[in-house]
Amino acid sequence: MSTTEARNVLVTGGNRGIGLAIARAFADAGDNVVITYRSGEPPEGLQGVTCEVTDSASVDAAFTAAEEIFGGPVEVLVANAGITRDTLLMRMSDDEFDSVIDTNLAGAFRCARRAATGMIRKRRGRIVLISSVVGLYGSPGQANYAASKSGLVGLARSISRELGGRGITANVVAPGFIDTEMTAVLPDEQKKAYLANIPAGRFATPEEVASVVRFVASDDAAYITGAVIPVDGGLGMGH
Ligand SMILES: NC(=O)c1ccc[n+]([C@@H]2O[C@H](COP(=O)([O-])OP(=O)(O)OC[C@H]3O[C@@H](n4cnc5c(N)ncnc54)[C@H](OP(=O)(O)O)[C@@H]3O)[C@@H](O)[C@H]2O)c1
Repeated sequence: MSTTEARNVLVTGGNRGIGLAIARAFADAGDNVVITYRSGEPPEGLQGVTCEVTDSASVDAAFTAAEEIFGGPVEVLVANAGITRDTLLMRMSDDEFDSVIDTNLAGAFRCARRAATGMIRKRRGRIVLISSVVGLYGSPGQANYAASKSGLVGLARSISRELGGRGITANVVAPGFIDTEMTAVLPDEQKKAYLANIPAGRFATPEEVASVVRFVASDDAAYITGAVIPVDGGLGMGH
């Protein structure tokens, strides 16, 4: 993966899970990395700024703090922060719907909007939005989550059309099932049912998502924009 020099990389929700694996992958490759977190301490070895993605002022403050740490603008944004509030459609409250859209979709919008200022000035930038196979595949009990994750596709494609001529790309990475604490606690029967539909026959590691994110953020991927890149072992093929 060719990148000429260390870039300034901001990963939202990089204090744990997939976001942490992504942050570590960039840091291990020599990039300057800042993660956002909401409470506690940033993970060892990584610099962090607090950020609540549902709040524009908090997003602005987080970027300003990150820019101070970097001594320059954010060049790679990984909008990873996300939540689920699963329940069947007819039981889903307005709050369960709105909070998931506000975090997963509007949160990514707020971060991309703030990141664009510095990227336009530098005439280079990479925006990577972390979606899910569920965004285009659909999933019972996840109408709110799937809507938020498919919304990221329209967001990335519109950003691509607006900013493509300024050296900025915007792509969606859509993971399938990832080996995390969340999937580790699934009952065996449920795990078996999921696995039966995954051609790869296994879940992915967070590191496998991280390397794809690093690729779309690299110089090698300069001509990829508005794309949806699955990391799902074939689960969502054709969707
Ligand atoms: N796990 C999977 O199998 C899977 C599959 C497909 C896609 N994804 C997507 O991948 C991303 C990461 O998933 P994960 O499994 O690593 O999740 P996770 O372990 O639950 O971590 C979610 C991260 O998002 C942050 N976050 C949530 N709401 C936020 C808010 N309002 N403001 C700021 N930060 C917020 C959390 O911060 P706190 O620590 O403060 O809560 C945490 O850092 C998500 O977008 C998820 O939808 C996951």
